[in-house]
Amino acid sequence: MSGALLEVRDLAGGYEPVQIFQNVSLTMSSDTSIGLFGPNGHGKTTFLRTLSGIIDPWRGDIVFQGQQLNRPGERGSRRFRNFNYDAVTRRRMNPKLVARAGLIHVPQGNLLFPEMTVEETLSVAPAASAGRGRPKDMLEQVHTLFPRVYERRHHKIRFLSGGERQMVAIGVGLMAAPKLLILDEPTLGLSPKLRHELSAAIRTIKATGVPLIVVDQDVEFLQTLIDTLYLFDHGSISRKIERAEMPSHQEIMAMLFGETAR
Ligand SMILES: Nc1ncnc2c1ncn2[C@@H]1O[C@H](COP(=O)(O)OP(=O)(O)OP(=O)(O)O)[C@@H](O)[C@H]1O
Ligand SMILES: [Mg+2]
Repeated sequence: MSGALLEVRDLAGGYEPVQIFQNVSLTMSSDTSIGLFGPNGHGKTTFLRTLSGIIDPWRGDIVFQGQQLNRPGERGSRRFRNFNYDAVTRRRMNPKLVARAGLIHVPQGNLLFPEMTVEETLSVAPAASAGRGRPKDMLEQVHTLFPRVYERRHHKIRFLSGGERQMVAIGVGLMAAPKLLILDEPTLGLSPKLRHELSAAIRTIKATGVPLIVVDQDVEFLQTLIDTLYLFDHGSISRKIERAEMPSHQEIMAMLFGETAR
C-alpha cells in the first residue's frame, strides 16, 4: 500500500470521442496541498471531474489512500455508461464511493439547486461523509467560517449573490468531511473584496488540516495556499514547481505562453 494520499498515474480522459487530457501523473501526501494553473479550456476541470468519478478515465490509475478508485467491475458514471472504454481493462469509477472515501469535489461554477434553501443544501451533504464527523459539528464549522451562510440559511439559493453561493458550495464540501478537498476556481468572477474573504476562509480550511487541490486563475492566491504548483497545458502537466522555487506571475505566464507574454 502506498503512503501517498493521492497517486495519479498516467491518467487520460475526456468526452467521447474527444480526448482532453493525457499522461497526467502526480502524487500528493496528506500534509500538502497542490495547485493547478493553466489556460482556459486546456482540460483542468475535465481532469478534476475524472478524479472524482463524474466521468470515467480512459486510461491510467487513481489511487486514493491506498485504494484503487478506478477498477474493473465498477458500475461507472451513468452518463457515459455505454461508452466503450479501454476494452481490456474497463476500469471505471463509482462517484458515490469516491465521495464516501473522502475525495470531495466542489465544482467550478457552484452547481447548486436554485430552489433549495441554504439549510437544505447543506443538510444533504453529510450523506457523503460515511460517518466521518458529526453533521452538527460540521455545520457549526461552516457557519463559523462563513457567517453570511448562517445569516442566509433560510433563503433559497437563487436569491444569493455569486459570492454567497460559492461559500455555500464550499460549505457543502466541508459538510462531507473531506479527506481531500478539490476546489475548482473558487474565486472566479468575485469582486476583490469577496475574493479576499473567500481566500482567507480557504486558508483557514487548509490550516485545519484538510489537504487541497485548487485550480484558480489567480497565481498569487494559489501561491498563498499550496506547496506544489502544476502547470497544466494542452491537457498535460508541463511543469511541476515547488513552493520554495515559485516564480512570479509574469515568469509563469512566460512558461505557458512564451516570452511574448511578459
Ligand atoms: N461536457 C462536455 N462535453 C464535451 N466537451 C466538453 C465538456 N466540458 C468541457 N468540454 C471541452 O473540454 C475542453 C476542456 O475543458 P475544461 O473545462 O476541462 O477546461 P479548463 O482548463 O477547466 O478551462 P477553464 O479554465 O475555462 O475552466 C474544452 O475544449 C471544452 O470545450
Ligand atoms: Mg475549468
